[in-house]
Amino acid sequence: MTTSESELDVAYGGVPAGKESIYSQQPVLSARKLVITFGRVVGLDGVDVDLYPGEILAVIGDNGAGKSTLIKCLTGAYVPDSGTITLNGAPVSFKKPQDAREAGIETVYQQLAVIPALDIASNLYLAREDRRPGPLGSVLRMLDKKGMEQRAGKAVQGLGIQTIQNMTQAVETLSGGQRQAVAVARAAAFGSKVVVLDEPTAALGVKESAAVLDMIKQLRDKGLSIIFISHNMPHVWEVADRIHIQRLGGRAGVITPQTHDMGAGVAIMTGAKKVGEAA
Ligand SMILES: Nc1ncnc2c1ncn2[C@@H]1O[C@H](COP(=O)(O)OP(=O)(O)OP(=O)(O)O)[C@@H](O)[C@H]1O
Ligand SMILES: [Mg+2]
Repeated sequence: MTTSESELDVAYGGVPAGKESIYSQQPVLSARKLVITFGRVVGLDGVDVDLYPGEILAVIGDNGAGKSTLIKCLTGAYVPDSGTITLNGAPVSFKKPQDAREAGIETVYQQLAVIPALDIASNLYLAREDRRPGPLGSVLRMLDKKGMEQRAGKAVQGLGIQTIQNMTQAVETLSGGQRQAVAVARAAAFGSKVVVLDEPTAALGVKESAAVLDMIKQLRDKGLSIIFISHNMPHVWEVADRIHIQRLGGRAGVITPQTHDMGAGVAIMTGAKKVGEAA
């Protein structure tokens, strides 16, 4: 990646005021010219994206614009046909979500956030259960359930989700917002550097959405970098540092809430205006 390309990426909407220092750093996660096709359908037609340390990058766009496809390519769920992805400046090529996860990228996918029948602690530790110490764990593969419950409790409390008391409660008994909170807590609990959330507030009520948005801001304030996909413009304008606009498989532009209001963002999203005309 050349400097001019990365400068271009923040230049459309300018750098968010007061946060200039973030954007002089190397992006945590960066992609150039990502292409993926599904038969005759073009999922991504050469998309660039940069995610800087400690920022919330929102991704908006109409249905089918390629938002989920973009984050799936960044997180190992899809392997792009071409293009490059770098993590802290080093090229990566994730073949499966586990690869991205091991590299510090946690993703809450649009369709499946949690497994309702399992309890909170088990959901938090899904696919990375802790074994008991010694031969009980290494030979008999016994899970360290007590330890997981305690650590799950800490992770949930650390994010200020006071409404969840009991880590052995089945997730199906939680409200929609609490379920999303568990998914976000899981994403945040494992020393991840990047957290990707595909529509975390869709289907949530006003109070529940506010709690999830608060958690997202807390993660950002801890220094994590967040990609936040949403159709809810007020939510996006509330939390985003920058906004990546997807349109018809391509990137229509990158703006900031300071330089562009919601109407301008939607105009770019629908193709009514180009990014330079809409500020
Ligand atoms: N596995 C797949 N097989 C075939 N087509 C796919 C696949 N995944 C995505 N697509 C297509 O790629 C395009 C982009 O889809 P994507 O799911 O990324 O949209 P989106 O922006 O997330 O939309 P939404 O807002 O509805 O979630 C669509 O035309 C979709 O049908
Ligand atoms: Mg989607």
